[in-house]
Amino acid sequence: MESKTKKLIHTFGALADLGQEIAKTSEFSEMVRTSLHLLLGTLAIRRGAVVECVSGQECTECLAVWGVGDDYQVRLTLTLPERAAILNAGVCALGIADGNPAWTAFLSRHQAELQRLGIDLVVPMVTRGEITGLVLLGGKASGQAFQPDDFEVICAMVRHVGVGIHTHRLLEQIEHRAEENKHLYENLRTIYRDTVRAFAAAIDIKDKYTQGHSERVGKYSEIIARELGWPEEAVEGIAIAGYLHDIGKLIVERDIINAPYKIDAKASIELNRHPAAGFEILSPIHHPYADIPLTAKYHHERIDGRGYPDGLSGDQIPFGARIVALADSFDAMTTDRPYKTRRSFEDVIEDFRRNTGKQFDGLVVLAFCRSLLKEISGQTAERRIMKMLGKNYLNSDRAIPLLTELIAELDPNEQSAAAGSA
Ligand SMILES: [Fe+2]
Repeated sequence: MESKTKKLIHTFGALADLGQEIAKTSEFSEMVRTSLHLLLGTLAIRRGAVVECVSGQECTECLAVWGVGDDYQVRLTLTLPERAAILNAGVCALGIADGNPAWTAFLSRHQAELQRLGIDLVVPMVTRGEITGLVLLGGKASGQAFQPDDFEVICAMVRHVGVGIHTHRLLEQIEHRAEENKHLYENLRTIYRDTVRAFAAAIDIKDKYTQGHSERVGKYSEIIARELGWPEEAVEGIAIAGYLHDIGKLIVERDIINAPYKIDAKASIELNRHPAAGFEILSPIHHPYADIPLTAKYHHERIDGRGYPDGLSGDQIPFGARIVALADSFDAMTTDRPYKTRRSFEDVIEDFRRNTGKQFDGLVVLAFCRSLLKEISGQTAERRIMKMLGKNYLNSDRAIPLLTELIAELDPNEQSAAAGSA
């Protein structure tokens, strides 16, 4: 094979290797070092270095060296007018002894240092009409002078390296921006959550007898959703929906909300407007979670269709609303109100038993009972439900069998197992 053809194939092979190296998403400095090694190896050059022009500054940063001592840091400066002059001159590679006027000032500063290092050629990396760095090359190991086709190979490879560095820097910028955006987004979510809690507090302050109700409903809902295996994002969403479920009460008269006795039919109609009003208040807001307005609207619906405002039944009721409905009722039953003291735990369990499939969704009751049982029997480190119920409410000796029995009745797996063994 003719030596020229061999050389061409060799050069193509080197360019392909270089392209592959640059395309790797491996560590940036390793990519530059390997690229320099490939470039030197292609033309049997002993030493070299790659320096990057720092954006908007005159100094350069050394990215890789080969054959001049691994720890050596090449420190060069290239002023902005010098960069413009080099671009105008359109030089591919400059021998440091060439005396090109575009390089005069640069060489007057660095020629002695470059000669001491054994650097013969300085090749600017030009990407998108800007000098992004310089590749410094020593002479060939053979001692022969560079030939015109050597310059073509050098310039093609340096262009490749320049594009690689530029691409990596762009990716770094994109990653940095993405990180910044992530922080901004997290900040926004925190602001959103804080705002929601402030609203929940505003609702609870208006209703002086049920203080902390919205916050507790949010927490119970979150616990149920987590027990049901919902993804974390959806768990956060249902907590928010719980905090806001009664936001419509802000438009109901304070006297009706705070009536120290059972309210009459007219006041009841007024009070029952709050789910639809909540939907109206929440709908125009862009929530970072799904179904917040719908959950507020349907948290007084019942599985048997006897709830309000729309009388939906079963699967027509959004699942989140079924969770909040149970959390809401549980908190109502287990906190004192002006006209009644809270019910005993035995009573609450009996209410669950009687109303599952009528008022409450069976899966939701099951999940709630399971998470409470895990707390009481010490399977979970945190005791969030028990904390909300207060010290003297639950007696674990009585509560554990009550919960275990109800779970066995409601669990479809246990029922089918029992049917199988019968
Ligand atoms: Fe409500």
